[in-house]
Amino acid sequence: MTQDNDFARLSDFEPMKAELTGIRQHLHANPELSFEETETARFVAEKLESWGYEVTRNVGGHGVVARLTTGAGKKSIAIRADMDALPILEQTGRPYASKVPGKMHACGHDGHTTMLLGAAEYLARTRRFSGTVNLIFQPAEEAGAVSGAQAMIKDGLFERFPFDAIFGLHNHPGAPEGSWLMRSGPMMAAADTVEITITGKGGHASRPHLAIDPVVIACNLVVSLQTIVSRSIDPTQTAVITVGSIHAGEASNVIPEYAKMALSVRSFDPKIRELLEKRIRKLTESIAEGYDASVEIDYIHGYPVVVNSQKETEFARAVAEELVGPEKVGLCNLIPGSEDFSYFLERKPGSFLRLGNGLNSAMLHNDKYDFADESLTVGAAMWARLTERYLDA
Ligand code: NI
Repeated sequence: MTQDNDFARLSDFEPMKAELTGIRQHLHANPELSFEETETARFVAEKLESWGYEVTRNVGGHGVVARLTTGAGKKSIAIRADMDALPILEQTGRPYASKVPGKMHACGHDGHTTMLLGAAEYLARTRRFSGTVNLIFQPAEEAGAVSGAQAMIKDGLFERFPFDAIFGLHNHPGAPEGSWLMRSGPMMAAADTVEITITGKGGHASRPHLAIDPVVIACNLVVSLQTIVSRSIDPTQTAVITVGSIHAGEASNVIPEYAKMALSVRSFDPKIRELLEKRIRKLTESIAEGYDASVEIDYIHGYPVVVNSQKETEFARAVAEELVGPEKVGLCNLIPGSEDFSYFLERKPGSFLRLGNGLNSAMLHNDKYDFADESLTVGAAMWARLTERYLDA
């Protein structure tokens, strides 16, 4: 067993502060949207190559995977950072603000990428581990339905770069810089969209008996959908079904042919998510059927629930407590946002962590948001120590 002082400490990263801040602000000034991360990927790959990593480019689009093996250890760990920016016009007024109007690192992925680079440089220089580390620089996290995580998995990520467990992080506005929030089990929501088209039979408003009125059916369905969460979901669990859009008809004296509805469905448990879909489909189909109408349901699955495995979360918590002290490591509440790191966690054990971005930080995706550079060395030191502890000979 290695002595504690053989693992990375915060003080080891103090000398890298200026370098990491420079990298972060360079990435911030040069944002690239999902699927367009050419220059960011090149920048990342060149640095990793210069530090001695075996680098594979273009994994699932602009994805970059860097691999380093040291010693005889058979274990393998993966750490993921996302690289893409958002279509937002930056309003921070910072000297290193985006040089590209309408594109902005408003979710802190510039910081995530920089922290993993910081750990990469340190791990290659010190090599105090025994086994294999895989650093995954992922594109297109913000893409929605067909995202970078899915693309990298489809391109053989698990087979080409085998690993036992995976870790990732997101910065967290509202928590102090350099503090950590963790949660075992479900942590971030699945967000699905459902588009429903009810087809009845159009006709004259004065002769409803000769028509099939999709407006009545849609209204019936809106009310019935409310019973799913209240009557079918365990009261100790949570879920949301919102009918955000409903459109039918143009005139008071015409029964329309169609009614269209769009729903947002959120849940924190894969089983609840399945149950919601089953109940929404069944109610929709049976209500339409009851009125002799036909219905088309387009159930669009967004990112799944982020479910952290217990063992890896406890491990990450222990490492963070060693690094920053237990008073700076807390329990994360459920987060209603979603994150495509969930696709990795569906197949591998691991944990997604939250790193404080400051109590006064603007919220994510806001045009005044900025990643807190004070957190850079904490994040880099965490990835380094987590790797050394996981691959401790
Ligand atoms: Ni993000």
